[in-house]
Amino acid sequence: MKATKLVQILVLLPYVFILSNVNAQQQTFEPAAIWKDNNGIHINAHGGGVLYQKGTYYWFGEHKVEGSKGNTAQVGVHCYTSKDLYHWKDAGIALSVSDDPESDIVRGCIIERPKVIYNKRTRKYVMWFHLELKDKGYWAARAGLATADRPTGPYTFIKSLRPNAGKMPFYPSGIPVAEHINVEKPANNTDSIFCRDWKGGQMCRDMTLYVDDDGKAYHIFSSEENMTLHIAELDKSYTSHTGKFSRVYPGFQTEAPAIFKRNGKYYMIGSACTGWAPNAARLFVASSIYGPWKYEGNPCQGEGAGLTYGGQSTFILPVAGKKNAFIFMADKWQPKNAIDGRYIWLPITFKAEKPELSWADSWTLNSFGS
Ligand code: DGJ
Repeated sequence: MKATKLVQILVLLPYVFILSNVNAQQQTFEPAAIWKDNNGIHINAHGGGVLYQKGTYYWFGEHKVEGSKGNTAQVGVHCYTSKDLYHWKDAGIALSVSDDPESDIVRGCIIERPKVIYNKRTRKYVMWFHLELKDKGYWAARAGLATADRPTGPYTFIKSLRPNAGKMPFYPSGIPVAEHINVEKPANNTDSIFCRDWKGGQMCRDMTLYVDDDGKAYHIFSSEENMTLHIAELDKSYTSHTGKFSRVYPGFQTEAPAIFKRNGKYYMIGSACTGWAPNAARLFVASSIYGPWKYEGNPCQGEGAGLTYGGQSTFILPVAGKKNAFIFMADKWQPKNAIDGRYIWLPITFKAEKPELSWADSWTLNSFGS
């Protein structure tokens, strides 16, 4: 090769490298870093959840825009697809906000923590989310429902509601009768909030969905002014609440529930209640979905553990094809520039059957073994 040619190649090499990396997606999980989709754009699916079906993962989350306006729903729920969990393809807006001022999901409302499950019986994709009505702060505390015929949508908004109106809790054995709610005489402030909302339905804010091995689905949400988690059964179509639900740790103020099952045991990781600011994660364990749940402390280890490494739980993702491999998904919120929110995904490890989390700058699915 002529010297001049070699010089030309050497000069151009950095540009080729830069161009090839513009759209490069990650081959590893790098918590809290920018995570690009197939178009080279930071993934926009906050407070999300993942549905796995026939070899494809579907990641749904809040589409945020720039600035603090991004804390309200200006666009809707975004969906991305992936075959390997590293590379994500933009599948567009699954649920769009409405331009009809009469709609519950009019642009400017708040849509948070959307989750999608598939109903085999109706062949519908069912999305539930936390909905706050436009210009009403966080006072509406409603559950929103939308359904679709295809996983990526478009989803049609069906209704919003406060769950389980007029229903009393189910108490799994192990919860002493003395702790059951007495509507005539609520024992404390938390029970009073439950009784206040008994007629109109219970508040629903941070939430997740869980489909058990028997096909029954559960809606798990922060209720009672965020004082108490509710674990509520959905009907066979997954589009209504059956009225059976239990209360988890009344008064303990747990938000951001994420749940998984391993070797017949249920594990739930949530957070305390400090707005957008991070706090220590909370682990709960139970042998039955309704409880009694046992609080097991903070599952995070090492530096940053006291603040969940800057994140807040949103979902626990079972890795397809790997036994007992679960990814903890959390959001590192950026309320002043919502679109810049980051994703903290970490592998869950187990020590004597107890889930643990540790920070990793970079990791791969190999950390779960083969
Ligand atoms: C914490 C919740 O987990 C988020 O989803 C969001 O509702 C913020 N609070 C709002 O402050």
